Amino acid sequence: GGPTAVINGSLYGVICEGARHSDAVGCVYGMINGIEGFLADSYMNLSETLSDDDLELLRLTPAAYLGSCRFKLPENLSDSFYRVLFEKLERLDIGYFFYIGGNDSMDTVSKLSRYAAQIKSPIRFIGIPKTIDNDLWGTDMTFGFQSAVDIATDTIDRIHTTATSHSRVFIIEVMGHKVGHVTLHAGIAGGADIILLPEVPYDIQVVCDAITKRTKAGKRFSILAVAEGAISKEDAAMSKKELKEKKKNGVVYPSVAYEIGAKIQEVTGSEVRVTVPGHMQRGGEPCPYDRVLATRLGAAAAELIINEEYGYMAALKNNEITKVPLSEVAGKLKTVDPNCSMIKEAKRIGISFGDQ
Ligand code: F6P
Repeated sequence: GGPTAVINGSLYGVICEGARHSDAVGCVYGMINGIEGFLADSYMNLSETLSDDDLELLRLTPAAYLGSCRFKLPENLSDSFYRVLFEKLERLDIGYFFYIGGNDSMDTVSKLSRYAAQIKSPIRFIGIPKTIDNDLWGTDMTFGFQSAVDIATDTIDRIHTTATSHSRVFIIEVMGHKVGHVTLHAGIAGGADIILLPEVPYDIQVVCDAITKRTKAGKRFSILAVAEGAISKEDAAMSKKELKEKKKNGVVYPSVAYEIGAKIQEVTGSEVRVTVPGHMQRGGEPCPYDRVLATRLGAAAAELIINEEYGYMAALKNNEITKVPLSEVAGKLKTVDPNCSMIKEAKRIGISFGDQ
């Protein structure tokens, strides 16, 4: 899926743990561009290719050394796809299979694990949770999330400093198509006045009233942190078909922030500017928290295998590393609870979520 600034750190953890158990592990292969690349026989022998110095670099180099893919495996485990894939794994004498990724990746490794059990294959599967969205069910945190929050917060901070010299409305569009964890944290951290999340459909009039109230109170600017998946109450009430029809006949905006900005400009007469940090939120130096988490999860995943505990995702619960059955994780989204304490606390200090 979408790489994070720290995905290499977890790969580092797996390679090092594999090297520590050289009695059980012959070498560590890396699929290039995930399962899709492996199907095209694109992989490398990491144990032979990476020197100790390379490994140290890998630990601190952002983004994805092995590339990435967005590839959904067939739902039907009887599909010949699985036999072909397992023949490739067996040809390389693969004993243990680690997959590092978000929802689609955990779905992939869950299907492979179930197929292996079905054919009584000796190959063992482990998932390692990675996504900036932090929307994986079963773990408190996914690595990449805190680094993305840092970047989104830094963007909002920088907009704040320039906003004081203009009487404008500034919108920062934050990554998070289906869930708003990054936007919620960065919005609060950056002191946004309004935060719009996919999980809390907004009323544009409520948004505009919040802006007008600030203007009347003498505030020179307003700042909105908007998730790229933010949605109006009207659109949220529509079926997929109705929404598609509406978008087909309506004005096409580059992204949700521009649509919201146009409406705010129309209703309040304010001048609006939009900033979209986009994929910067997945790049650059990983923050120390994520480096630690990625290394912990990578090493824990390898230890699960050594302890012959298969079909799990390594996870973080109350700051302790644990394991969650892949079957419980696959296909589930950990969304922002509209009634969560963070939103209540944010509302208490005057932040609007456009819903009331
Ligand atoms: O899933 C991570 C993520 O960065 C989302 O936050 C974002 O909506 C999506 O990936 C972007 O996907 P792509 O990089 O394929 O445009």
